[in-house]
Amino acid sequence: MVSSITINAPSSTANLGPGFDVFGLAVDAFYDTVTLTKTKNGISIVTDDNIPTNPQNNTAGLVVKNMKNKFKIKDGIEIKIKKGIPAGYGMGSSAASAAAAAVAFDKLFKLKLDNNSLVEFAGYGEKASAGTVHYDNVAASVLGGFVIVKTNPLNVTKIDAPTNLRMCIAVPKLVVPKKKTKVSRGVIPKNVKLTDSIVNLSNASAIVAGFLKKDLDLIGNSIKDVIVEPARQHMIPGFSKVKANALKAGATGVTISGAGPSVIAFSKKSSNLKKISQAMSKGFTSTKTESQVVICKPSKGAVDSK
Ligand code: HSE
Repeated sequence: MVSSITINAPSSTANLGPGFDVFGLAVDAFYDTVTLTKTKNGISIVTDDNIPTNPQNNTAGLVVKNMKNKFKIKDGIEIKIKKGIPAGYGMGSSAASAAAAAVAFDKLFKLKLDNNSLVEFAGYGEKASAGTVHYDNVAASVLGGFVIVKTNPLNVTKIDAPTNLRMCIAVPKLVVPKKKTKVSRGVIPKNVKLTDSIVNLSNASAIVAGFLKKDLDLIGNSIKDVIVEPARQHMIPGFSKVKANALKAGATGVTISGAGPSVIAFSKKSSNLKKISQAMSKGFTSTKTESQVVICKPSKGAVDSK
């Protein structure tokens, strides 16, 4: 009888510019590892990382609590969490722990849930950190590749990402607010102009077409957001310089990764990825901000660690 399951779930980037709360892409930059082990009773969290250990305030804890109730599981569960994804930088850190917990729970109790259900359960965890449920990061982290989230009812479409797609993600060394996603959602306008929504809809549709046609230029050229990025960019010192530098160095499209403050440059395997990374880093240095730039590929999503 299986009494323990370990799942690695990848980091992810949400929005991809115009696809706010709708698009996600799993990236192999970092991974969180969650091990669920059956115990006598209750839910406990074991970790060496600086994260809440009360299941009610922990993204993985919330997922396990909800799934345990929903499926009337009598066993207790120990949740062991090892964070590999920096928290609060727009890399889907909270989502990855939630995704890993949902996938591990499904396997441990042989529930055989479909993709939409797994994503929906993983979404419970996001509420803890963002204040509202949004499925873009969890969907990418659970399923891998490029995902499109439709809500009411939840329906997630996954498209395999082109194998020659590469991303340079600059993670600035900034002190981020505790509830960063909540804060950065607070600056987004409540109403948008019709002309702006048309620009974003057109770019978002072209991104989907780009992933379907494996057209990296179409994807990159369509990473343009005239609604959310302009409202959030003031929270990232040096953003416009980082973006301009990356585009000049050959990136096909640049935007904020998720709710930021990381900046993501889309490029190709054949691009000069080192040059793009250095250009991004220089952009941050112009405002005396240090950064770590990670060059990464699309990831396959949450998988068994064995
Ligand atoms: N779509 C979400 C946002 C992602 O931009 O607020 C947060 O990680």
